[in-house]
This record gives sequence, structure tokens and C-alpha cells, in this order.
Amino acid sequence: MKKRIFALAAVSAMALGLAGCSSGGTETTAAATEAAETTAAEAADTTAAEEAAPAEEASGEVANKDKPLVWFNRQPSNSSTGELDMAALSFNEDTYYVGFDANQGAELQGTMVKEYIENNIDTIDRNGDGIIGYVLAIGDIGHNDSIARTRGVRKALGTGIEANGEVNSDPVGTNTDGSSAIVQDGSIEVNGKTYIVRELASQEMKNSAGATWDAATAGNAINTWSASFGDSIDVVVSNNDGMGMSMFNAWSKDNQVPTFGYDANSDAVAAIAEGYGGTISQHADVQAYLTLRVLRNALDGVDINTGIATADDAGNVLSDDVYVYNADERSYYALNVAVTAENYQDFLDSTVVYAPVSNQLDAAAHPSKKVWLNIYNAADNFLSATYQPLLQKYDDLLNLEVDYIGGDGQTESNITNRLGNPSQYDAFAINMVKTDNAASYTGLLSQ
Ligand code: BGC
Ligand code: CA
Repeated sequence: MKKRIFALAAVSAMALGLAGCSSGGTETTAAATEAAETTAAEAADTTAAEEAAPAEEASGEVANKDKPLVWFNRQPSNSSTGELDMAALSFNEDTYYVGFDANQGAELQGTMVKEYIENNIDTIDRNGDGIIGYVLAIGDIGHNDSIARTRGVRKALGTGIEANGEVNSDPVGTNTDGSSAIVQDGSIEVNGKTYIVRELASQEMKNSAGATWDAATAGNAINTWSASFGDSIDVVVSNNDGMGMSMFNAWSKDNQVPTFGYDANSDAVAAIAEGYGGTISQHADVQAYLTLRVLRNALDGVDINTGIATADDAGNVLSDDVYVYNADERSYYALNVAVTAENYQDFLDSTVVYAPVSNQLDAAAHPSKKVWLNIYNAADNFLSATYQPLLQKYDDLLNLEVDYIGGDGQTESNITNRLGNPSQYDAFAINMVKTDNAASYTGLLSQ
């Protein structure tokens, strides 16, 4: 096992990093405490067992099926039931998933919207009919993160209808008079007055070619919705910033209707100064690090939590308030932070590496390795404008030579076709088009 030196530099870097994001508020505290417990317990578990390090053999001699593999952003799972695909998640001893805590983030997003309504109650009801109307852009009805966000908003606003313990996350189409069977009218009481909250419309933003989370489709949808609902729309909510910004630019900015997204992409954060209501940072700076870090650790043959729960030889380490590890799911989840008018100045550049894990690894101790990595849709705002630029900074710091493959967001084979020679690579990082499709990748690695 590598000797780990807990450098003092790491401690101060960590303190700085924490100060930078502490403005996220108290909402994350409960989740962070839970996270702390889980992480500590899990870390102890994993530290015990030292596994044989595939990378210590000559690279060429490791079978592709035994090479480190990380799934990220789209968790192998059944797109109808949400059930995790544990065969994919435990494909080999060095397989992990990196994403973010979808439920904690969804709750934050819902709460952010609700608090905005409460704080702006005097002006928010544009036509003064006592009904706060909102429209919702849904990313992908089969993507667990998208489902969680739809549920989070409906829960917070009281518009969700529960079936079997879960809030229905289906799109309503339109719901002009509140009679939809998918959602119900909620209510919010402020200063002794009760307002109705109604989901006027929602739809999955999928284009005709099949790409989901499609920003252009959301821009068209808001034009249609505003034409039929006019000043009944008081709030616009979106499962992500790509779609949110498209709606903001097409309509809500000019009409001064607060619009809420998710991801904290730089353009969305900047738009808060112009009336964008807010967004959620899913700590892409931590996720991008984890994505490459688990591969680096597996290739180095060190404990998987090196540079994560415990400081590495360069002083990189993450604290418990920014991620949680779930050993049963073999998944690392970054924690989310709300970004609103109060703190957006701290989030203006979404591509800055996270300070506590920004130290360069020594190339002699951590020699260069080749990684195959794909982005499911090169046109996805979050992945292309936030995640990939971060990965490209961390790949230098971690001495990984990464080939970035961009997909079209629709066709899995467009990507798998470019995994023609896995033997050229030491490790793989995969962002599937559809969460059900893990086997199309593991199949190639098993040949
Ligand atoms: C992001 C979306 C993105 C999606 C792609 C989500 O985590 O919030 O913006 O389109 O991942 O899978
Ligand atoms: Ca109204």
C-alpha cells in the first residue's frame, strides 16, 4: 500500500474550498451529516481489503474485462422502474458509478422554488387570480435524476399525487383548469392568505430525432405555452439549465417570469443577475474529479478512497460535506448546493477545479495511463459546458491521457462503434445514452 501523507497544505486548501461553498446554506447540513456517517463507515470497510492491482502488470496484459471502469452521470438502471443494474455496477472489482445525490438535490430545487414564491408573493401572481401557475420542462422520463427533480418540485409545491409511496412523475401535457389526474392543485399560505399552486403544463423535452433534455424543444414549448396561458404563467421550472436557459431566453426574461433550472452552468448562473430565479449546483467539480480519481486509484493499485476520503501524496482529499459513498450501490454521489441571487457570485465559473483536490500528482509515482471516455451527447449543455472542461483539467492533474468521444444523444451504437479497440486503453469512463444499455459496453469489454 502507498504511504499516505496528510499534507498541511491540504487542510488549508480544504478550508478555503469549504468557505467558497458554505454560502450554500444550512439545507445541506442534514444530508451532510448522514453522508459523513456513511462515508466513514464505508471507507473503513473498503480500506480493509487490498485488491490485486491490474495496472501493476504490463498494461497490455490486463484483459479488457478486468480494467477499471467508471459509469458517470447516467447510472446503469432500468428506465421504467429505476432499479439499479447491479450487474453493470459491479462488472469487475474496479467498477464504480459517479453521480450526485438526486433526492437531496431535488428537494433543494423544490424548496428553492417554494421559497422564491413565498418571498415574492406580492408580485408573483401576475394576473392576480390567486393561482400561482407554473410550467415544467422534463428532461427524460426514463432518467432517474430527471424523475427525482420532477418529484422534488411537485412535493415542495404540493402538486404531487402519490401512488405506491412515490410521487407521480409523468408529464401532464396541459392542465388549464386543474383537473389533471397526474397532478393536483397545491396551496401555499403566506401572510394569512392562501394561494393555489397549479402545474399548468409539463412535457418531456425530446426532439423528433429522439434526443432528450433537448433545449431547443423547451424553447419551442415555452412559446406554445405562453401563447395559450399568457399571464397565468408565474413561474417556469426546468429539470436542467440547458432547457431552463432556452425558455428564459425565448420568453421569461422579457416577461420577467422567474425561471429555475439545475446544474449551475456558467451562463445560467450569470443570468441570475437578469432575473433567472436560481439553479442547483450538483458539484460537477467534485464529480469530474471522482470520475477520473477512481480510475487513477484502481490503476495505481491503491485503496479506492485515496485522494477521496483520505489525503493522497499530493494532499488531495475530499470532505464529507461534498460527497457520499454508497458501498452497496458501488456509487459515489456528490452533494448539491442551491445557487440563488444570494450566493451566485461564488458560482460564476462552473469550470473551476475544486480547490481541495487541485494538486498535481507526481508523474513518477503515478505514470501516464490511457483512458477512453465518452459523453452521451456532445450538445448537452451541462456535460459539454461544465463537466467536460472540468474533466480536461483533472486529467492533467491526475496524469491521465483521456480520449473524449462525443455522442449524438440518440444512438448508443454511434458511441459503442468508437470503442472498437479497447485493448489500446487502460481504463474506461462511460456516459450511456440510455441507462438500460450498460450491456452494450460491458459486452464489448468482455469479448
Ligand atoms: C444534468 C442534465 C444533463 C443530464 C444528462 C443531468 O445530471 O443535470 O443537464 O442533461 O444529466 O444525462
Ligand atoms: Ca395567477
